[in-house]
Order: sequence, then C-alpha cells, then structure tokens
Amino acid sequence: GPAAGAADPPVARAPLGQPMPDRPATVRTIADLRAAILPWRARGDSVALVPTMGALHAGHVALIDRARTEARRTVVSIFVNPIQFGDARDLETYPRDEAADRAMLTAAGADLLFAPDAGEVYPRGFATRVAVDGLSRGLCGDARPGHFEGVATVVAKLFNMVRPDCAVFGEKDYQQLLVIRRLAADLDTAVRVIGHPTVREDDGLAMSSRNRRLSPDERRVAPRLYSELAGAAAAIAAGAPAGAALDAARAALVAAGFGPIDYLELRDGETLACPVAPGRPARIFAAAHLGVTRLIDNVRVR
Ligand code: PAF
Repeated sequence: GPAAGAADPPVARAPLGQPMPDRPATVRTIADLRAAILPWRARGDSVALVPTMGALHAGHVALIDRARTEARRTVVSIFVNPIQFGDARDLETYPRDEAADRAMLTAAGADLLFAPDAGEVYPRGFATRVAVDGLSRGLCGDARPGHFEGVATVVAKLFNMVRPDCAVFGEKDYQQLLVIRRLAADLDTAVRVIGHPTVREDDGLAMSSRNRRLSPDERRVAPRLYSELAGAAAAIAAGAPAGAALDAARAALVAAGFGPIDYLELRDGETLACPVAPGRPARIFAAAHLGVTRLIDNVRVR
C-alpha cells in the first residue's frame, strides 16, 4: 500500500541524530490518503489533522506536538492553496521546501504527510466556495479580499478528505482560527477545532513562513510589531484609553520603518466585534508591511 500498514504503531520521535527517513509516509492523492487512514480507523485509532502550507518551522512543530497529545495518529497536510492568495506574486514567491519539510515531519513524529497538487484538490470543473459570513469581514478580510473564502473552502475540503477527530491551528492567524471554528460548527463537521498559542522567536517575533523573506535589517526591526502590540495591550489593561494606545503603537511602527499598516485594532476576541463591550475578552490585531513582507500578529488584552 502507499502508506503505513494496519500493524504499524504510532511513530516515536526520531532519536537525536538518527533520522527515520521512511516516515512519515507521503500520499499525494485523496484515494491514497483514505487508504492510509482506513486501517487506523478499523483499529479504533483517533486522527488529528494539522493543515499547513509547508515551509515548516518550530511553530508548526508545536502544532504537531499538540496534535500528538490529542489523537493517536497525526496527519499533516502541505498544500499551498492557490485560491487563498489574492496576489499572484505572493503565491509564486511563497516559500516551498518539501525536502526540509519532510525532515521536520520525521523529527516531529507525524504519521502521514498529505501533499496533493493543485489538480487533485481543484480538478477541472471545480465550482464550490465556502463563505463564512461576519467573521471573514474586517481585518485581513478587508486587506485580502477573497482570502478567507479560499481558506474556508480548502479547510472544509481537507476536513472531508481526512475526516479527522480534531484539527490544530495556530493562534497567530487568529481570525482564520475563528473562521474555521465557525465553519466546522456550521457545516456539522464534528471536527474539534483546536487553537494553539503562537510560538515566538526569542525576541518576540511570531514564527511565520513569511519571515524568511525578511532582509537582515528588516529581521532586526520585525519584533517591534509584537513589542508594540504587547505594550499597547499592557497600557489598555492598566486603564489607558484604547484609541491613544493604538495610535501610539501605529506611530512607533511607522517610525521603526513599517509601512503601510493594514490595520491595528482592538476587537472582541471571539466575535471580532468592535468596539469591545465591557467584560468581553479583547485582543489587539495587526497587519503591517515591512519591505515586501506583510506580517501579522495579535495579543490578548488582560
Ligand atoms: O494557515 C495556513 O497555513 C493556511 O491558511 C491553511 C489553514 C493551511 C489553509 O490553507
């Protein structure tokens, strides 16, 4: 068969310096994916899905670690989803490195890699879109028209392909996480959607595949996005007026070399409503350009 057989136990982590190059098994078609999962299901194994677009980093490894605590089997998908990119150049230049990704998946102990090509996911005649109203508006929804429809469509398809018990997504893309929670409930998928906290570099920069595009100078400035959000969140938590705190953060980012800032806003952490009603969970969300790279981040206001 194309993948792990019925008798294979879940994968242990590779001992240091001893890669297990045969793992995870890689499948590229939906038929092979289903054939690989079927024997697990026959044994009663639970399945977690970690959807990714590749260019894997420590943030993805944290999602895989989390998936491994949530289910007996972990499937990782790598698919650079063309319909969620508004900008053809962003799609073209999106980092791709399947060999490096495979090495990370081996070390992380993923059970199966699903890496379809675009024709497998969107065959000729494909015509359906999944649109999540409300949560897809504002923030990245305004800055990237059609983006969340593309994300919701591919994630709904991945849920149908894999039929996982749960799926793990990073909180760095917080609006995406809320959109996916909503679609999982609204479409009766029975998939438990798990959000995992953002993994940061030592200097605070949120890990992102797009960070590879930063020049050394930009990389030095990039952590300011997080420090300004954290500073504004602390000021608001201490009672400062939100408008003034957000204005100060915007001005500091522009002064540091960011620009344009797509948004830097205080919103309800569950509904994205703005303004945030008293007593509701609040988060600050931001997207800002640094050179050719667009960075996003968000922090909770305590
Ligand atoms: O967050 C991502 O990497 C992508 O948006 C996702 C969820 C894999 C859908 O393509």
